[in-house]
Amino acid sequence: MKDLLIMNGPNLNLLGKREPEVYGSANFEEILDQINADMGELLLPYRLHYFQSNHEGALLDQLHAVGFDYLGIVFNPGAYAHTSIALADAVRGISRPVVEVHLSNVHQREEYRRHSYLAEAAVGVISGLGWRGYALGLRYLIEQFGQKI
Ligand code: DQA
Repeated sequence: MKDLLIMNGPNLNLLGKREPEVYGSANFEEILDQINADMGELLLPYRLHYFQSNHEGALLDQLHAVGFDYLGIVFNPGAYAHTSIALADAVRGISRPVVEVHLSNVHQREEYRRHSYLAEAAVGVISGLGWRGYALGLRYLIEQFGQKI
């Protein structure tokens, strides 16, 4: 299993333009560069894929498509974390691990962001560490589930 997926949900295509005081000023291409630079050689044996959609069904389809084959998935579900039982069920239904990531610390924000349906199905949750949350999630998947050569 050499494939890893970073998946972003709704409104995360607007990173860089959207509420930069909350989500930072980097767009996701820049964040991907930072992740690659940060992880360096650790990522070399792996293929890192990226998928973003604003549509719940497309995110479900993507989980179904890779969730039995990829090493794991780092998933920022955006607001669907707080609303989507369907995405949580998909994470439960696939066989590969999903790490839930939020750029912002959802526990410091509005009450309605404090509950995540997805978190109940994810192997773990990283929230509030900005773009590093994605890199830390990937690092965990590789260290925990990757080939130990
Ligand atoms: C977010 C937090 C969610 O509550 C919000 O709806 C988002 C972004 C984050 O990365 O901090 O869209 O997932």
